[in-house]
Amino acid sequence: MAASVFLILFAITVLTCTAAHDFQTSIHLLRPRQGLGRQLVEGVDCLSWRLAVETNNLRNWQLVPESCESYVGNYMLGKQYRRDCKVVADAALEYASRLNLTGDGKDIWVFDIDETTLSNSPYYARTDVQFGALPYNATKFNEWVAEGTAPAIPAVRYLYNKLVSLGFKNVILSGTNARFQDVRAANLHKAGYRSWERLILKGDADKGLSAVAYKSKRRTELVSQGYRIVGNVGDQWSDLLGANAGSRTFKVPDPMYYIA
Ligand SMILES: *[C@@H]1O[C@H](CO)[C@@H](O)[C@H](O)[C@H]1NC(C)=O
Ligand SMILES: *[C@@H]1O[C@H](CO)[C@@H](O)[C@H](O)[C@H]1NC(C)=O
Ligand SMILES: [Mg+2]
Repeated sequence: MAASVFLILFAITVLTCTAAHDFQTSIHLLRPRQGLGRQLVEGVDCLSWRLAVETNNLRNWQLVPESCESYVGNYMLGKQYRRDCKVVADAALEYASRLNLTGDGKDIWVFDIDETTLSNSPYYARTDVQFGALPYNATKFNEWVAEGTAPAIPAVRYLYNKLVSLGFKNVILSGTNARFQDVRAANLHKAGYRSWERLILKGDADKGLSAVAYKSKRRTELVSQGYRIVGNVGDQWSDLLGANAGSRTFKVPDPMYYIA
């Protein structure tokens, strides 16, 4: 009896998940890790920490607190992260739908790549990365980027493509080194991002600039070319602060790392 009830519940769950909208589909197939209810670990309230990170009250932090690794892992791989991203995407779409396009093709949205259009969760879930609780290793991360297999964040992809159908142009602006231009373009395309006005990566002329300075510089170039930045979507505050940040900015969550 118990077994058949379980089977029925299981079948309902599978059917519900299959029928659900794109937003509910998994970013990837990793299982949420243990430790969901354990927010207060070794004196650190991980939810408070995450909130402080998202609101930019905590800055220049280097690592996820060790005791919050499984909390952050659960958040990133579970439903909450996807729901949080969907709220951001819905707000952006609501705003976009009220804008009057000028029709000259110069109304643009700026999108970041990592943890915005594409998710690096499969990489961050690795045991030698631990969701940002272990130090960043550029060599290792670049190997992952070179694979070109990062999945889309479904809510952001939905927003992105909807903006295109509304008549906006999207510019992708990332701190990725320009030597990854081809693999990043292929990865974005494979993940369901089919068109962009520009795909701007960090070149030699941008060397040594902070993220805020680099992104400000490149956005200012766009504005001087006659573009109007009506929206800007990123996971880091450094995507959304500085010159010509855009008429409105939208921050998607990222409790795994901080880029100044
Ligand atoms: C867009 O145009 C409509 C109709 O002219 C106007 O009511 C509305 O305020 C405009 N919206 C913006 C954001 O300018
Ligand atoms: C960084 O990753 C590379 C490639 O996996 C590895 O060879 C290297 O030892 C790592 N560096 C550190 C400091 O862990
Ligand atoms: Mg990013």
